[in-house]
Amino acid sequence: GESSGTPYWRPTVHFTPQRNWMNDPNGMVYFRGEYHLFFQHNPYDDQWGNMSWGHAVSHDLLHWEELPVALEPDELGTIFSGSAVVDHDNTSGLFDAEPGLVAIYTSAGETQQQSIAYSADRGRTWTKYSGNPVIENPGVADFRDPKVFWHDETQRWVMSLAEGDRIGFYASPDLLNWQRLSEFGADQGAHGGVWECPDLFRLPVEGHPGRSKWVLIVSINPGGPAGGSGTQYFLGEFDGTRFHNDGDSDEVRWIDQGADFYAAVTWSNIPEADGRRLWLGWMSNWRYASDVPTSPWRGSMSVPRELLLIETDTDLRLAQRPVAELERVRRRPRRWSGAVSDAPEYRGSELDMTAEFQLAGASATSFGLEVFTGSDQVTRVGYDVTARQLFVDRAASGATVSDGFPARHSVEHIPNDGVVRMRILLDRCCVEVFGDRGQVVLTDLVFPQPRGNRVRPFAENGEVTLNSWELYELDAH
Ligand code: FRU
Repeated sequence: GESSGTPYWRPTVHFTPQRNWMNDPNGMVYFRGEYHLFFQHNPYDDQWGNMSWGHAVSHDLLHWEELPVALEPDELGTIFSGSAVVDHDNTSGLFDAEPGLVAIYTSAGETQQQSIAYSADRGRTWTKYSGNPVIENPGVADFRDPKVFWHDETQRWVMSLAEGDRIGFYASPDLLNWQRLSEFGADQGAHGGVWECPDLFRLPVEGHPGRSKWVLIVSINPGGPAGGSGTQYFLGEFDGTRFHNDGDSDEVRWIDQGADFYAAVTWSNIPEADGRRLWLGWMSNWRYASDVPTSPWRGSMSVPRELLLIETDTDLRLAQRPVAELERVRRRPRRWSGAVSDAPEYRGSELDMTAEFQLAGASATSFGLEVFTGSDQVTRVGYDVTARQLFVDRAASGATVSDGFPARHSVEHIPNDGVVRMRILLDRCCVEVFGDRGQVVLTDLVFPQPRGNRVRPFAENGEVTLNSWELYELDAH
């Protein structure tokens, strides 16, 4: 165990590095039974710097084994964010008999340029390509975070790249030679900050076989919905050359309205038989990432989530749900229903809960669950009936972290059947709330004092019925 530091804030089912700084997830790829998670890492300090790719692998997305640092700075610069693919057909010519992994990342030196590295031993050791960079800097200051996938229709690799206030798309037959195809976004979506960490993929519409849309993910910092960093998305078509947005140019869609879900990108090479689109994000915010009070590590990933496209009454929406694997580590089920004023109190800081509140007929003006509650601290996860918003309130949640950290984050939500449904994950230093079918999500860090672990329902200015409240302890051991 850890003799010093903050072991009580070390999450149990969320990835954290053993020591030191972490930001974005990188190079996520599934290969030969392993989920790879690389990450922006400072191997020497608990502040941002010396950017390298840390590395971890997992068989189930919950238990992670941290491996040695995969990519270290070189003469082209430090190693910024990027992606990894399986070069099945050896299009690059970098492999002999067996297909291997290719990482595509940003070399951050005097300028930002794109480089590649390859591994023929399941990601354990990497060789930088001798012809790096594969895309030189064209005179654009922010030019980074390449995300690559194989585009079947045109039989070539396609890259999305963040270029300041837009996304550039590139194509290559071999991962070595790239041609710029088009760009998107200078006049679309949110522009309160620089665009980072794009991802582009096709997603089927849940429950509508044969219907699908292209999704373009764009992280933005600052200018996010809860201040600082945030993640927006666009729905439309990708014709192999261009992305066409279905929405209006000034429309902004956020994928998570909490403060702490950033730089999320999806795993590549998930087997077709599985068919899921999986991702996770960095559970922090550039506003205060360097003040997060954990040690000897700083930085955590969100829970791995499945992405779904769902049809609501009004539109198509990107929704997120925790991966089904999480259900395997649920223990000690407890169930309760009744009027909130009669509800019991439980204890726990590693919990997976579902709660269904009967909105129709409720007299309370707001209701929900108080979590991480101690003598002088409380985090509230609830529904504001008047404002019709799902919210997380961490204004009095424990450690203050920085100016702007204590706050309430909310998202509009109007349930169509008079029931407010929430799935709530607690894991020692964080709350993740998935409303209804996952179309409203709030991810927030909280740093409660160690004994602040009471959980109880609340209702303000009236009553509400809990149709059902299920609570499981999360235990990954
Ligand atoms: C996003 C980001 C990326 C960059 C990396 C540097 O959080 O700013 O754009 O590649 O972090 O660590």
